[in-house]
Formats: sequence, C-alpha cells, structure tokens
Amino acid sequence: MFPKSALAAASLAALTRAAQPGAAAPVAAPLRDLEWGQINFLHTTDTHGWHGGHLQEPQYSADWGDYVSFAEHMKKKADDQGVDLLLIDTGDRIEGNGLYDASDPKGKYTYDIFSEQSIDVICTGNHELYQADAVTREHDITVPNFKDSYLASNLDYIEPETGNQIPQAKRYRKFKTKNQGLNIVALGFLFNFDRNANNSVVIPVEETIKEQWFLDAIREKPDLFVVTGHVGLRMKEFEQIYKVIRDQNWYTPIVFFGGHAHVRDTRKFDDNAFAIASGRYFETIGWMSIDGVTKKGDDEFSAQASASFKRRYIDNNLFGLQYHTGLNETTFPTEHGRNVTKMIADGRKALNLDKTFGCAPQDLWMSRAEYPSNSSIFTWLEELVMPDIVVNKERADVPRLAITNTGMIRFDIFKGAFTIDSTYIVSPFVSMLNYIPNVPYNVAKKVMPLLNNGGQLFAGNMDPALDAKYLVSPEQWSLATQPQLENLETESPVHFMDTADGQKPLGDGDSSERPGLIGGYTTKDDLGDNGDDTVHSPLKFYAVPNCIQTEIDFPIKGDPDKVDLVFVDYVQPWVIMALKFSGGDYSTDDVKVWSNETVTDMIAGWIWENWKVDC
Ligand SMILES: *[C@@H]1O[C@H](CO)[C@@H](O)[C@H](O)[C@H]1NC(C)=O
Ligand SMILES: *[C@@H]1O[C@H](CO)[C@@H](O)[C@H](O)[C@H]1NC(C)=O
Ligand SMILES: *[C@@H]1O[C@H](CO)[C@@H](O)[C@H](O)[C@H]1NC(C)=O
Ligand SMILES: *[C@@H]1O[C@H](CO)[C@@H](O)[C@H](O)[C@H]1NC(C)=O
Ligand SMILES: *[C@@H]1O[C@H](CO)[C@@H](O)[C@H](O)[C@H]1NC(C)=O
Repeated sequence: MFPKSALAAASLAALTRAAQPGAAAPVAAPLRDLEWGQINFLHTTDTHGWHGGHLQEPQYSADWGDYVSFAEHMKKKADDQGVDLLLIDTGDRIEGNGLYDASDPKGKYTYDIFSEQSIDVICTGNHELYQADAVTREHDITVPNFKDSYLASNLDYIEPETGNQIPQAKRYRKFKTKNQGLNIVALGFLFNFDRNANNSVVIPVEETIKEQWFLDAIREKPDLFVVTGHVGLRMKEFEQIYKVIRDQNWYTPIVFFGGHAHVRDTRKFDDNAFAIASGRYFETIGWMSIDGVTKKGDDEFSAQASASFKRRYIDNNLFGLQYHTGLNETTFPTEHGRNVTKMIADGRKALNLDKTFGCAPQDLWMSRAEYPSNSSIFTWLEELVMPDIVVNKERADVPRLAITNTGMIRFDIFKGAFTIDSTYIVSPFVSMLNYIPNVPYNVAKKVMPLLNNGGQLFAGNMDPALDAKYLVSPEQWSLATQPQLENLETESPVHFMDTADGQKPLGDGDSSERPGLIGGYTTKDDLGDNGDDTVHSPLKFYAVPNCIQTEIDFPIKGDPDKVDLVFVDYVQPWVIMALKFSGGDYSTDDVKVWSNETVTDMIAGWIWENWKVDC
C-alpha cells in the first residue's frame, strides 16, 4: 500500500528528535503501511552492537529504546485487535560497533541494554562464538536474561568447571500465544559454522534433524512452526529443516526467521511456508504477518487451508516508527523506552564513543563505489593506508606484498567526524599482520590472483573452512546466493506503478505532498518488490574482490627477486594453500609476526596522523 494518508503525514515539516543525542534527525519519506494478520512478528537480526542506532544516517537513526517503545505500542495494538505479536532475534548481536567493542570486558553495556526488550524467540549467531569469552558471556548473561525464549537447537556449551558438553540453551520451545491461544513450536538454529571457539560445539543441521528430541518436536502438531536461525535464507540448512518438518506435517504453516547474510529477503518454500531475513546493523526491523492459521483442536485435518504471509522491512527511524503506531513525538516514547535510550547514552558517554580523532575528507564506500576508484574504501586502504602501516624497521630493505581480505572492513566511512565509535564500526576485528620472509616474487605474485579467482581451490569442496566466501563481507557473499541481486551493477529503475495493490506513481497528484526520495533499500524478494516500508530511490552496488594487495618499496624498474609476503593473520590458511599451488612449499612454521598491533588500531593511527583536520 502507498496510502494518501502516509503521503500527507510525510509532508509534515516538524519531525521528532529523540534517539541518541546528536543522532541525525529522520527525514520524511513516503511509507507503505504494515498489514496486520492473525499472528504478527517483529524481527531483528545481525544488530552487531548498533543498539544506539546510526547516528550519521537519518534513515536508521532510532535506537534500541525507541524499539522498546515501538514494541510496547504494537503489543497494545495487537491486544486491542485480539491478535498476537511475537518478537524474534536471530543472533550476531555483538561485534561491529563501539557500544559493544570499546568496553573492557566487551559488551559491558550492550548485554543489559539488549535484554530490556522482551523477545519471544532468540538464538545465537556465529559472532557470539568466535571468542571463548563471548561464548561464556552468552551462556552466563544472555541465556539467563531470556530464559525460556533462548533456543539452541544445534549448539552446545562446554562447562569450564567440569568439561561437560551441555546444550547452550533449550533445544525447542512449545507455547501458546497470548490472545488466541495458538500452539507454537519454536526452534533456534545456527548454520553449520566451524570457526567457533573450543568452548562451544555446533552440531551440523543434518545430524540435529535426526536427533530424537527434534523428531519429537516436529510431531508436536502445533498450529504454527516458528523456525528461527542464524542462517541465510538461501543456504542449505533451512532447506533441510523445511523438508523434514513438511514431510511430517503436510498442512501446518511454517515461518522461518533467518539472518547472517545481512540482506532483506523473503523466500517462499511453499504456499504455507515462508522465510524472512531482516537486514543488518539495526537498520531494519522486519515485519511478518500470517493469516489463516487454524487451531487444530482434535481434528488434525482441519488445517488444510492455506495461510497467507505478508512482510515489510521497516527502516529503523522515528518518522516511520511513529507513523506505524499512529503516534507523535510526545505520545510515542514510553517510560521504559526512554529509560533504555538513557542507558545507551550513558554507555556511549562512559566509553567516550563520540571522541573525534580525525575528519574524513570524503565518503569512502565498501560497495556503493566501484573498485578501484577514489571513493572506494578498498582503494583508499590499498593506495594510502597500507604503504604507511606495513612498515617494520628490521625488514625495511625488503620489498613487501601486503594482502588483506575485503571482509575485514565492515562499514563505510562518512565524510566528517571520525570517532572512536567509527573505528569499531569500520573494522571490529582483532586481526594482526603476519608474514613469510623472502618469498620468491614469481611465487608470491600468484597468491592474490588465486585468492580472488582460485576456482575449485577455494570453492569449499576441498576444504569447507577455506571457502572463499569467508574472505568477503556477508553482503558480498550473499550477492552470489540471492537470485534477485544477480543484476548487480545495473541500475534498476524504481517502479512506483504497482497495479497489484493500487500504488500510485509518485509523479501523480499534488507535488507539494511529495517529499524527495531518499536512497536506500529497494528490495526484490519472493513476494515482489513492495516489501520496504519506505519508498527509496535505488542505490547502486558494486562487487569487490575477495582480497586486495599492495606492493610496497618495490624497485622502480623490473621485478624484485624476493619479497616479504605480509598478510592479515585471518587469511593465513588461504595464503599457505595458495602458496602451495604457486610452487612455494610453506607451512605455518614459516610464518612470523609482523607487528603486535591490531590492523584496526593501525588504521586508527593512520587516521590520527593524516586526517588531523578539525571538522
Ligand atoms: C581450548 O583451547 C585453549 C587454548 O588453546 C585451551 O587452554 C583449553 O583447554 C581448550 N578448552 C577446551 C574446552 O578444549
Ligand atoms: C500528539 O498527539 C497528542 C494526542 O493526539 C496531541 O494532544 C498532541 O498535541 C500531539 N503533539 C504534537 C506535537 O503534534
Ligand atoms: C525508568 O527509570 C526510572 C528511574 O530509574 C525508574 O524509577 C522506573 O521504574 C523505570 N521505568 C521502567 C518502565 O523501566
Ligand atoms: C583520484 O585518484 C587519481 C589517481 O590516484 C588522482 O589523480 C585524482 O586526483 C583523484 N581524484 C580525487 C577527486 O581525489
Ligand atoms: C610481539 O610481542 C612479543 C611478546 O611480547 C615479542 O616477543 C615480539 O618480539 C613482538 N613482535 C614484534 C614484531 O613486535
């Protein structure tokens, strides 16, 4: 829908400022309404510590406290209509924002802030499992915070005291909805992740679906299955789970909530089974509503009618959140929501996240600029940063080839203040540089082409852990798995004509009611192209390579005989493998530490030195 009322609302000039102090004010934009059903869901995923919202981006500037207010109002709306509303989160709540990463221990503020929202089904992402201390915090803090709502269908924890392997949380949950008493069976999965810390055990999905508890769960005959998972919708794991549940339950509606791929997407498995993914970094609150869910009662064949599924991807800003609740700046924030907004502001202040240590002269994009180009963050790294930071006095006389994977960078840099927060946003990882000395250049020079175009070598068949997809950002990787994104690099026109639901072209009617469109998501999924709540003008996205490389202190003429091959420690297994295929028989024994500083700190140091300008 693209109702007149929304356009009218959009023309209101005065917009509210709440969110975090200093956050960009939301901008008016035409909105599509949320369509309510019998059972409705709000979904977050891959928030990665962005619970303070995007302070530099008006479109995503609401914070977790605003989401608490939003959910409170939406629950009231559900109660008033006698329908149900459930909240879901599918993991990767940590790593990627100063609010989590800048504290010692990490997450000192975020665990408490996050748990202020009451969530009905919550599960674990791979990021909660990279570091052993994060696994422990998840077990000791988040699982008890969410009690019965926390599900770990294929994840175990190793108790430090006993060494016992125990389920990280409950395997599944059976419950009745508040207003209609619908029976739900909920599950909480993680894809077959294998780079987890050794105090956690991820059980492959194909094994889990043969376990007795799972076979019992799918025979519970609920009115609706709710399968949550930190799983990309187009990955094989959801497909496997769908098949076994459907084989056992021919008519029961199944709804999947996924994540990991950092995209907005909806996938249809069959008329009665849909999956939604709700983006990344708390830019998006996913909305899924289902009608036609029948209560089974005694007659198990009463549920043969088809359910209907509707979805929206809500841009996380106050303009939209207030619009969807029919409230304004005075009536929208609840006491609880305000309290949470304050908790975030206090945490950000304690961590000094707004402290500026440089002024970015221009926007630098991960995928919104072509690579290589002046606006590409990777070109900036390759040409300006790497030559300055890949220095080591003892090796100063040896030419270097320095390699880093593009997945090490997680977000764009915006023109203007570069803060402590920005540092963790751009690269939250603790990777350092390693090197192999004196590699013959004719061997070393073949490594990067193999990392970028190694074909079968890094396709994941020979060694799943060396799948090239782990070298890039989740967004880049999902471009390959999400069919609607195939025509990448070709700008697709925005279609405002949508005869199916009577949507009007923006060019019609009174132009005074028509705000300019803001660039943003223009999602195409299995339900069509009207999923985004905000009508955006499309952004162009470009593919980037798996890895980038810089030649440092090379001779002016001709090739060097030997080079030091310097690389981010994360890519070491790929580099060793690529060297073998290039005729260099090296192993981890040949690897030396290049420097003891994290790459993130080195980049921050470069910015301190080079962008010293006052904004
Ligand atoms: C995990 O690895 C660490 C460091 O290698 C080791 O000290 C610890 O005992 C291991 N823990 C388990 C549960 O295997
Ligand atoms: C917000 O809504 C309330 C209740 O409808 C109304 O009394 C108040 O004037 C509105 N405030 C603004 C700023 O529009
Ligand atoms: C909000 O914070 C105040 C002050 O700390 C406290 O008294 C109140 O109970 C809180 N309200 C909610 C709903 O959390
Ligand atoms: C872009 O890069 C080229 C080559 O590195 C340089 O000559 C040019 O001045 C740059 N342009 C801008 C706008 O930075
Ligand atoms: C890194 O730190 C270790 C231990 O503190 C030290 O032995 C080593 O020399 C350092 N390496 C470099 C390259 O600074």
